[in-house]
Amino acid sequence: MKGIILAGGYGTRLYPITKSISKNILPIYDKPTVYYTISILMLAGIKDMLIISTPYDILSYQRLLGDGSQLGIHFVYKIQKSPRGLADAFIVGEDFIGNDSVALILGDNIIYGEAFPSILCEAAGLKEGATIFGYYVDNPIAYGVVEFDKYGNAISLEEKPKIPKSNYAVPGLYFYDNKVIKIAKNVKPSARGEIEITEVNKAYLELGQLQVKILSDNILWIDTGTYDSLLDASSLIRSIQKEKSSCIGAVEQIAYEKGYINKKQLLDLAESMSKSGYGAYLKSIAERG
Ligand code: G1P
Repeated sequence: MKGIILAGGYGTRLYPITKSISKNILPIYDKPTVYYTISILMLAGIKDMLIISTPYDILSYQRLLGDGSQLGIHFVYKIQKSPRGLADAFIVGEDFIGNDSVALILGDNIIYGEAFPSILCEAAGLKEGATIFGYYVDNPIAYGVVEFDKYGNAISLEEKPKIPKSNYAVPGLYFYDNKVIKIAKNVKPSARGEIEITEVNKAYLELGQLQVKILSDNILWIDTGTYDSLLDASSLIRSIQKEKSSCIGAVEQIAYEKGYINKKQLLDLAESMSKSGYGAYLKSIAERG
């Protein structure tokens, strides 16, 4: 399975912060937001990732992440000229996906929980159809919303409904088989002028090939799209990290624990950031194991 990180868009809800910096490079406590996103795909076992961003921001991602070889994985980059919608990721990424299945994650979605890695591995094992998630929220109107029947089967999906049929929002992490490319190409732009991911999910629902897994409340989903949620996310990550004495979204640590890089490589990465607490943390991980 391949992975796409959609880090496009202009982050206008965060202006002026994001006038000259991409939203997904902004820090969540001690690391750039995109680290958390990449870590999710890594925990799903995905090693080939495409990062899609704007013509202005793509260089920042390349500077931050390089070709991925330092993590024993592979990053490639592609420009999305204008934010045409989430489903456009499969059109921009068609050559990259090739004949594979693919996971899409939005660059500003953080999902964390001790039970989450096994959920991710199961979703990444998908052979046919699609797997998406449902997460209970108080304000579903801001999201894609999924409705279930009494047996827990998904029966409808709506993008930002005025009157939501449930409180289950669909987080920005999706797993699809290869026909997603064809499905995305057939989606017509919505009223906001975007080809919506919800339309892609509806197509799988109509085919009887959509699995919606509920993420329980011991899993944390943070959307970092507003000033408050950005600040809350940083405070939350800081308190969880302090409490557990471990880092969330530490891509170098995940690469090491998955055996993609060895102790010496981890120590070199730590050394390159030796003046920061993050670098010191990586060093302690290498010296521990
Ligand atoms: C997008 C999707 C929506 C999803 C949300 C998750 O919304 O369209 O279905 O629930 O991401 O963050 P947007 O960020 O474009 O408002």
